Amino acid sequence: MSPILSARLLSKSFWLNGTISPILKDASLDLKEGEFLSIIGASGCGKSTFLELLAGVIKPDGGSVVYQDKEITGKGGSLGYMPQDDLLFAWLSVTENVLLPARIGKRDIKEAKMRINELLPIFGLEEHRNHLPWQLSGGLRQRTAFLRTYMTNTKVLLLDEPFANLDAITRKQLQIWLKDIAHKLNLSIILVTHDIGEALVLSHRIIVMKGSPGSFVQSYDISQAHKSDTDTMQSLHKELLAALDLEMVQGIQPGI
Ligand SMILES: Nc1ncnc2c1ncn2[C@@H]1O[C@H](COP(=O)(O)OP(=O)(O)OP(=O)(O)O)[C@@H](O)[C@H]1O
Ligand SMILES: [Mg+2]
Repeated sequence: MSPILSARLLSKSFWLNGTISPILKDASLDLKEGEFLSIIGASGCGKSTFLELLAGVIKPDGGSVVYQDKEITGKGGSLGYMPQDDLLFAWLSVTENVLLPARIGKRDIKEAKMRINELLPIFGLEEHRNHLPWQLSGGLRQRTAFLRTYMTNTKVLLLDEPFANLDAITRKQLQIWLKDIAHKLNLSIILVTHDIGEALVLSHRIIVMKGSPGSFVQSYDISQAHKSDTDTMQSLHKELLAALDLEMVQGIQPGI
């Protein structure tokens, strides 16, 4: 079966302080349908840039992105992308925030509303449909942002540190919830995180990104058997820490 999403040799440079700096070099990966893949790596190694390239928010200097056998390089709108600082519009209710992708995509609003009505209970937001963002807890706001991303009508979600600003308990609850919903809705997910524990619990596969320009250096398959064996999980945790050690010297965020 062909992968649902493929990145082929993606490269990107940015102008920084008057010189051109290579940020990402030859990043390739295949995402299988229903797969939960996490990317971990030091701050600044290009993780968000990689997701932006997949989402078509920016264009690569080289390489391509293929979704369901169609090339989508540099084109937005095919994948559900939740940026690192995803914000809800303060003056819009949960329902209206979630409707935005349908409005932007000029889709049938009546149909989108019906779909949202089906999805609100699945996302645990049924009682909050008319609330404004400031009336929601952090976890509920994040669920609303997830649902809005899902409403782009895609089977692939690109999530950039979606739990970063949550307290530890809400974070844990949302991790369990995301794993469950990914399974229920047969989503294929790429998650960027600094949290090795989070990546281990959620993922089928973890990719380590390193260097400047950033590239993918190691890949770890995490089977269900691994997850139910504490010793294996602990040694995988150590291996992943070791894979990131060099970056730690260069000032990685303490959470990793
Ligand atoms: N639009 C841009 N213009 C210039 N430089 C950029 C741009 N976007 C990102 N960069 C630079 O590219 C590098 C990689 O940034 P990126 O945001 O992809 O890192 P990251 O791995 O997501 O880091 P973090 O873990 O801190 O979120 C950084 O040095 C950043 O300053
Ligand atoms: Mg980032």
